[in-house]
Amino acid sequence: MRLLAVDHPLVAHKLTVLRNAKTDSPTFRRLADELVTLLAYEATRDARVATVEIQTPVAPATGVKLSSPKPLIVPILRAGLGMLDGMARLVPTAEVGFLGMIRDEDTLQATTYATRLPDDLTGRQCYVLDPMLATGGTLAAAVHFLVDRGAEDITAVCLLAAPEGVEYLERETRELGVPLTVVTAAVDERLNEKGYIVPGLGDAGDRLYG
Ligand code: PRP
Repeated sequence: MRLLAVDHPLVAHKLTVLRNAKTDSPTFRRLADELVTLLAYEATRDARVATVEIQTPVAPATGVKLSSPKPLIVPILRAGLGMLDGMARLVPTAEVGFLGMIRDEDTLQATTYATRLPDDLTGRQCYVLDPMLATGGTLAAAVHFLVDRGAEDITAVCLLAAPEGVEYLERETRELGVPLTVVTAAVDERLNEKGYIVPGLGDAGDRLYG
């Protein structure tokens, strides 16, 4: 597994505002959207492209276009939905599938309550969106779900990650033999006893959607 914590002043600035408990929901939604677009730029660095020949107003030229099959964006409901527009803005030709997952507040176990994805993901580059990588249970389950359907290349985009979750995800997906990259704005200090990232930004789903 590859972990990329994006080191950029705009990312750090927007994340600081998101962390601030005084930031209201409309501002939080707007900044999460902007932050995702910056993370998406890094997350798509290995997007597959094919060569194309075009004609500029001046001369013939060789360029590239995203190759098929189309990339698949998978927001994890509910909070991942707040990241969809920011990602799709950068990759407008991508297809979108949905995974609904919820973490039990006591056991911290993730369960899947909704799925709407293509049956066959063979050869697809998948971009999973989930703001928080806390214990890693949700993302690990999502990665297994996608690999079971044939996904061969997965990039997770997270606003924040905890070291415990990164380690768990690495351990739980090592045997899959599928390239997995996690792109995040920061890896924080730790998890608290309730499974919240510290210092974190609180409950992303609640801050986005109340
Ligand atoms: C939160 C968050 C992640 C998950 C992370 O979702 O958005 O999906 O918890 O936790 P984990 O790494 O410990 O599994 P939540 O279950 O609160 O659902 P929501 O998105 O509907 O708010």
